[in-house]
Amino acid sequence: MAGEGGRLWGGRFTGKTDPVMESFNASITFDKRLFSVDIEGSIAYVKALEKVKIVSNDEMTSIIKGLEMIKEEWLSGVFKLQPGDEDIHTANERRLNELIGNVAGKLHTGRSRNDQAATDTRLWLRGKIMSLKGHLKVLIKVFVERANQEKDILMPGYTHMQRAQPIRWSHWLLSYAWSLKRDFERLEDISKRLNILPLGSGALAGNPFNIDRKFLAEELGFDNVTNNSLDATSDRDYVAEFMFWASLLMTHLSRWAEDLIIYSTSEFGYVLLSDAYSTGSSLMPQKKNPDSLELIRGKSGRIIGDFTGFLVTLKGLPSTYNKDLQEDKEALFDVCDTLDGVLQVAAGTLSTLKIDKQKMSSGLVPSMLSTDLAYYLVRKGVPFRDAHSLSGCAVKMAEDKKCSLSKLTFEDLVSISHAFEADVMSVWNYHESVEQYQSTGGTSLDSVSNQIDLLFDWLNSKE
Ligand code: ARG
Repeated sequence: MAGEGGRLWGGRFTGKTDPVMESFNASITFDKRLFSVDIEGSIAYVKALEKVKIVSNDEMTSIIKGLEMIKEEWLSGVFKLQPGDEDIHTANERRLNELIGNVAGKLHTGRSRNDQAATDTRLWLRGKIMSLKGHLKVLIKVFVERANQEKDILMPGYTHMQRAQPIRWSHWLLSYAWSLKRDFERLEDISKRLNILPLGSGALAGNPFNIDRKFLAEELGFDNVTNNSLDATSDRDYVAEFMFWASLLMTHLSRWAEDLIIYSTSEFGYVLLSDAYSTGSSLMPQKKNPDSLELIRGKSGRIIGDFTGFLVTLKGLPSTYNKDLQEDKEALFDVCDTLDGVLQVAAGTLSTLKIDKQKMSSGLVPSMLSTDLAYYLVRKGVPFRDAHSLSGCAVKMAEDKKCSLSKLTFEDLVSISHAFEADVMSVWNYHESVEQYQSTGGTSLDSVSNQIDLLFDWLNSKE
């Protein structure tokens, strides 16, 4: 079947490959994890070959049997790689030849490793996306369930990392659930473009044996076939798109981790990580480090790096297949393996951490109600810009008097504006403060409950 050195492409080569080049060129060490999808693709392909009478029914049966035996060998760990098994496609075909003899050589008719590799990667990623979706859904559920159980707890909301306005802890939790929901939907969208079949594109020019590509697509569960063989063999948009998706997801999770790392410091003390998701210091006995969150934040750099690296690989390529494209797999596998861990650790960390309500409420200080003081004046008919400035005067007066804003007397406030009336003292209430944000998307109880309902409905629709 093969030329010099047992290589599939050995026919025209007379010299030996440099051993360093040999391993430099090989992808088997990492693409062997495509063994199952490679066999799946080959089984569909031999069926298509039988339809156009390139192989007989008996030959097809024997090839399928052989391929199934190879799959078993991989699954039971007895598949033995040989020198010259450059990649998974080569290794499976070499083994098929050993098992069923020369007829194995008919399998690759009209097919190239170029359309084969592209097909395998799409098939593999399709399966991986299913399991990632499962992990992501679990994580979103943890956010929503936690928000539902802890709806009433208030905490300071921050802008520029400065205390800004009181919010519900559940509102903070849900803010991340919404971004993760968008990530989930983005993944569904990517899947539409991923699930198009390149097999039948050959090396670059197409398939000369009138292979039924629609049949292949149906066999392999693809929604459609690609329409241009030059594009199909070199398109790795689905890899790039997926890795961008992962980068954006990691950006969300990294920000979330950063919030919690800050909230877990002694200075804040809003959350306490469970022992299961933190570690101690080998030197300082008092330390409890938020390693799970730090690693999530850290791995965002790694995933963005995988994505950026591969995009740079793509940008200089001339038309159709170039070996540079082999770089897609290690980056893709690394992103997927990293995400597997990240999503599960994120869910575990969030579902097991404890919150300290007292610390959260002691983070609330009256100056965070200075906007409310302005809104009080607005409700008395003062234009907002004037109300903002009058409230600012009250903040300044409290600073000058070295007292908190809520300790200014009614007389102090009246000296700033006659629009202040006796009921102004009702402003100093954090619960009332959050409750005024009734419009959709605000931090009031109704709005938060509505968000929880919407997200639970959405999660249920994804069961
Ligand atoms: N192992 C290659 C890849 O993963 C596929 C082989 C294509 N090689 C070739 N000489 N056309 O991209």
